[in-house]
Amino acid sequence: MGLEIDLSGRVALVTGGSRGLGRADALTLARAGADVVIADIQIESDSGTEAERYGPMAQAARARGFVYSEATAREIGELGRRSAAVKCDVTDRDQVGETVRRIVEQFGSVDILVNNAGTLDHLAQLADQAPELWERDLRVNLTGSFNCAQAVWSHMKERGWGRIVNMASVAGTLGGFGQASYSATKAGLLGLTRTLALEGARLGITCNAIVPGIIGTEAFHFGNPEMNERMVRRTAMRRAGEPQDVANAIAFLCSDLAGYITGVGLNVSGGIELFTF
Ligand SMILES: NC(=O)c1ccc[n+]([C@@H]2O[C@H](COP(=O)([O-])OP(=O)(O)OC[C@H]3O[C@@H](n4cnc5c(N)ncnc54)[C@H](O)[C@@H]3O)[C@@H](O)[C@H]2O)c1
Repeated sequence: MGLEIDLSGRVALVTGGSRGLGRADALTLARAGADVVIADIQIESDSGTEAERYGPMAQAARARGFVYSEATAREIGELGRRSAAVKCDVTDRDQVGETVRRIVEQFGSVDILVNNAGTLDHLAQLADQAPELWERDLRVNLTGSFNCAQAVWSHMKERGWGRIVNMASVAGTLGGFGQASYSATKAGLLGLTRTLALEGARLGITCNAIVPGIIGTEAFHFGNPEMNERMVRRTAMRRAGEPQDVANAIAFLCSDLAGYITGVGLNVSGGIELFTF
């Protein structure tokens, strides 16, 4: 038998799993054998009147119909795994606590946390960065990941096994033109990752970050086309990555195969950080 990523018997929580990378992560973890709960502010059966307050990307997703939380949970069910789509805002500690409590009650544990929920729609150079979107980005990308990690920590500690994967970005390692708030939150996540790795090491919990370059999700296509083209041109592989490229790396980091890997920021970037020419 070949070397295999086997997550059977594990229960995963993927935040922001309604579309894009989170959806690919959820499906891939399920294909590897895990039961997967998707937590997102957007689910199909929700009336959607709240999209307004979550920013332009949430409004576009609602208007254009790319909200797939429940559809993804159903797909996972068809793979023979347990799944659920939960409406949960990672900035709301009560909702996060309640989501984790219900997962433990219904599924028995939370072994894997993928902190994927994020905001990518605040694009403006410093003078024009909107203070309220700066605050929103900190709350969702950074505090949201902290909230979720803190909520699952004691369960993972009790079981002596856990995997936390944080979604950083090359905007956090290289800087992002017109992305002051986003870049600051993604750099912050790398600090959180290393700290949780240190504290989790003696508890059987690993914590790693994925550092994606440009991945062709709905959110990427929502961005400025000229900027996107320039970013592709400076990627050594001269193309955007696929959500599956990220999901494969996450599945590996969540498996026993990666048991001695913790505190890393793994570039999944086609070499955008290289001296491309
Ligand atoms: N696509 C890329 O090129 C790229 C590159 C680097 C990093 N990333 C990171 O990967 C992650 C996913 O990116 P994507 O391209 O799939 O983006 P996306 O906007 O398509 O997906 C983000 C998801 O998070 C959800 N979300 C937003 N705020 C939330 C909240 N408060 N609580 C719960 N869910 C919330 C959204 O509804 C959405 O389903 C993000 O953290 C992003 O920063 C993406």
